[in-house]
Amino acid sequence: MHSSKNILVIGALGQIGQDLVAALREKHGADKIIASDIRLPEDTGNGPFVKLDVLDSNQLREAIQSYEIAEVYHLAAILSAKGEQNPQLAWDINMKGLLNVLDLAKVGLFNKLFWPSSIAVFGPNSPKDQTPQYAGTDPTTIYGISKLAGERWCEYYHQKYGVDVRSIRYPGLIGYKGMPGGGTTDYAVDIYHSAVQGMDYSCFLNEASYLPMMYMEDAIRATIELMEADPNRLSIRSSYNLGGISFSPREIFQSIKEHFEGFEISFSPDFRQGIADSWPRSIDDSYARKDWDWNPTYDLKKMTEEMLNHLQEKYKVKVPSN
Ligand code: NAD
Ligand code: SER
Repeated sequence: MHSSKNILVIGALGQIGQDLVAALREKHGADKIIASDIRLPEDTGNGPFVKLDVLDSNQLREAIQSYEIAEVYHLAAILSAKGEQNPQLAWDINMKGLLNVLDLAKVGLFNKLFWPSSIAVFGPNSPKDQTPQYAGTDPTTIYGISKLAGERWCEYYHQKYGVDVRSIRYPGLIGYKGMPGGGTTDYAVDIYHSAVQGMDYSCFLNEASYLPMMYMEDAIRATIELMEADPNRLSIRSSYNLGGISFSPREIFQSIKEHFEGFEISFSPDFRQGIADSWPRSIDDSYARKDWDWNPTYDLKKMTEEMLNHLQEKYKVKVPSN
């Protein structure tokens, strides 16, 4: 067992990684959080960074040993839309990367692992509304297939080898720090950037596509709360359903238009519409609520206000008030 509290975040430069590293550094101190990614950051100023390919098991082992890592958050992946453009690459990164990390946990190189799954494990035959934790899963994307297989591996490593792995099926995540990396829910971030920059938005999903979504602050809090939860209360070692907000492109547009009267949207669905149509509209997260007291705090209105405020600062634009 490791007495150090150093934490390694793999895939730290991505949409979630940027927010997670900031939150962990705030909580534990910048020096304790080792950010890593396959690419180099634009700014290395805030704390330790190591360039690391999760597919290279030796490199990974070396980083975990030399930084005396006790916990790993493994975020590196290819997301749903990008995965459809290169299924083999998505399978390799999403699967082999996870197995490399699990194998190092299995031999006791570190104590605790967080790995995210996704609503993409569900498919066209899963119930669409309040999709239950144990609904049938028939994913149609390589991303969803890799996440479902990953969940099974996590539970297997926990049961067979005692690996303390914890996981959440994130909904589509919306934050202002990082841009999304090639998913089907990316529109719900892009739309805010367009509005604040004074541009109309052309949406790649149709106006009525309800999907489960969540503001990044809730998602980061859920992640840290799950990692700090009493292991004896955790009944799920595959991945927990997590619910936040469900809305359609039309509804997010309307919430932005309350602040930007002149903002307009058009709809030109592309191949991502088929992916969205195969996913749930909303999620039943009663296991997360029962096992580790999960409770989301953001609705669409509050999220829109925060997104617009932060992006206003970023782009130095004045958001009109009502
Ligand atoms: P992202 O695409 O924004 O970031 C992934 C990061 O991983 C990138 O910075 C990339 O450079 C890095 N990476 C890619 N290949 C790597 C490799 N071989 N070695 C090391 N780093 C590598 O993704 P994200 O949105 O931050 O998602 C993080 C995790 O959360 C993923 O597992 C994703 O499936 C999951 N997830 C995300 C969402 C969402 O809405 N963002 C929803 C559900 C699940
Ligand atoms: N937001 C992710 C995607 O769209 C869901 O896992 O790919």
